[in-house]
Amino acid sequence: MRILLGVGGGVAAYKAVLLLRLLREAGHRVRVVPTASALRFVGAPTWEALSGEPATCEVFDDVPHVPHVALGQEADLVVVAPATADLLARAASGRADDLLTSALLTARCPVVMAPAMHSEMWEHPATVANVATLRGRGVHVVEPASGRLTGADTGPGRLPEPEEIARVALEVAAGRSEPAAQDLTGVRVVVSAGGTREPVDPVRFLGNRSSGRQGVELARAARARGAAVTLVAANLASPPAFDAAAPGPPVQVVDVETTAQLREAVRAAAREADVVVMAAAVADFRPAQAPTAKIKKVAGQAPAPIALVENPDVLAELAAQRLRPGQVVVGFAAETGDEDGGVLDHGRAKARRKGADLLAVNAVGEGVGFAVDDNHVTVVDRDGATVLEVGGTKREVADGLWDAVVKLLPG
Ligand code: CTP
Repeated sequence: MRILLGVGGGVAAYKAVLLLRLLREAGHRVRVVPTASALRFVGAPTWEALSGEPATCEVFDDVPHVPHVALGQEADLVVVAPATADLLARAASGRADDLLTSALLTARCPVVMAPAMHSEMWEHPATVANVATLRGRGVHVVEPASGRLTGADTGPGRLPEPEEIARVALEVAAGRSEPAAQDLTGVRVVVSAGGTREPVDPVRFLGNRSSGRQGVELARAARARGAAVTLVAANLASPPAFDAAAPGPPVQVVDVETTAQLREAVRAAAREADVVVMAAAVADFRPAQAPTAKIKKVAGQAPAPIALVENPDVLAELAAQRLRPGQVVVGFAAETGDEDGGVLDHGRAKARRKGADLLAVNAVGEGVGFAVDDNHVTVVDRDGATVLEVGGTKREVADGLWDAVVKLLPG
């Protein structure tokens, strides 16, 4: 595919370098069209060396090829990242005052714009109106992430991670962003994602390898199918971005760190929920004590052992005592298999122990399950009987699981 990567003038232009690499590594030809201000952040040699194509903001370079018309016409996909407030305004008003805005006017392919700016600029009525105009014309404007901005300040306006932008852009290009079946309209769901961390002292913690990607995909898929989603996010590897153009209310994200915080957040949201999916890797144990001062090593002395106490089992509690009548409770079982049985034997036994309506059993270990793109799960019911097997991307697995949940919902 021939991709035109437009780069606006913001600090986040450095992330577009990684985006360029990802798109190239996925096998696409990429022509970078920066704005003049973007070139003040990242210079043309970087774009040219990594894309293998010229990178200019000038309409009057290479005039015989009429680039201000040809670049847009020839593109199969246009991705603009970061899209600054000014660039959104120029695109929305149809300006053609540089090569990028000219190309945006001649492009007839899918256009994905990933805004990045300070929260005040993002929330300003002028920007809100420009985004609405662009969306009204079919431009796919990605919702910015919330988090650390240029300085110490935080809020909405952060450019989503390059992997996320690449994923959305390629999905849009493949036409996979077609509206999903709205079979979760009016359904309230809670999804926990990530892995809890238990403090050992103020600087150390006991944690696990969960990236949170499967949980985030479950939240995305539910949102796309019309659900009202609360995502309880435990230490995700990257801030989640959600498609603001999808139907249904925006996803509520509640950040937590420890199992106690996760339990409280999940239970609070579950009181109003029709479905709870525990996709988070919850620490089974926590240090009995977490001193408020850092544990120091003493030369020649063996370290003091860390005594552990058991955490509550959030999933088993929710399954045993439904916080809302008729609530569907779903768990995950990350298994490796051992001398006592295979992945599925352990999964079936866990399903009977936990009492959840559905348990998605998957194999985990080095290079499997955690922080990889694909997943494979066997979904079993509370008796351990197989309900469904689904493999593929984490989004496909998420949709498979929601298909199974929909069958358990009343009506
Ligand atoms: N879970 C939970 N609370 C815990 C531990 C796990 O809610 N304290 C949930 C997880 O979110 C997941 C399911 O239980 O949905 C299974 O997690 P897993 O770690 O595979 O199971 P454990 O009960 O911890 O069993 P074990 O570690 O012995 O395999």
